[in-house]
Amino acid sequence: MVQKKKIKTTIVSQKQIAEQVYDLWLETRLAKDAHPGQFVAVYPNHESTLLPRPISICEVSEDKRRLRLVYRVAGKGTAEFASYGAEDSLEILGVLGNGFPIDKAKGKRVFLMGGGIGIPPMLELAKRLDCMKQILLGYRDKDLFLQEDLARYGDVYVATEDGSVGTKGNVMDIIKAHGLAADVIMACGPMPMLRAIKKYAGENKIEAYISLEERMACGVGACLGCVCRTTKVDAHSHVHNARICTDGPVFEAGEVDI
Ligand code: FES
Repeated sequence: MVQKKKIKTTIVSQKQIAEQVYDLWLETRLAKDAHPGQFVAVYPNHESTLLPRPISICEVSEDKRRLRLVYRVAGKGTAEFASYGAEDSLEILGVLGNGFPIDKAKGKRVFLMGGGIGIPPMLELAKRLDCMKQILLGYRDKDLFLQEDLARYGDVYVATEDGSVGTKGNVMDIIKAHGLAADVIMACGPMPMLRAIKKYAGENKIEAYISLEERMACGVGACLGCVCRTTKVDAHSHVHNARICTDGPVFEAGEVDI
């Protein structure tokens, strides 16, 4: 395997699109190899003691020269990223992770399910899937983001925890409220949402691929904070463990203990 190196990228633009949520476009040659569900590790410029932050790929520009990252400010590293604007530079490592298995959706009815900051990877996924797409998005409240971008690629259904927009509740409540059905699920979001999807997919015999990116910390195999139990045995260590950042972040739902 080729060892990946940190590279310097230039910020094309950055704006805030919801409370603590930022929309960043970077000029980088890594864009041409980016696949939906993969991520990049972004390094803080100042806090040299901080590990990089893994941020999922939201979109790739048509000319494949720019990457769009939509992230939530959740600590010192991401707060530093949010302070930058056009022409500033950032170091990134990537592209990392396996991404969603697009071929599994061919000719099928697919649910793309995103919860909170798990919504961004659904955009490039929706763009690349050529099938019947039902896009189910869960937000805390009416502070929505990316739903208009996603509506260009499929039917969008929104749920909010406080009921201020769409169905009251979460993405699972959307399925009930609208009587929706699918053959394949691709999802990213908080653990309780992914657990509910795993259960629903198991009960209804639906193939489901879930991105566990919320469980990642450094994203580059350095912190071991992302280990999860799997049904598959690792070829080297013979244990039922996987590192989400290097073996995932996308797993077949039945394969992981969450
Ligand atoms: Fe740090 Fe996987 S996120 S080792």
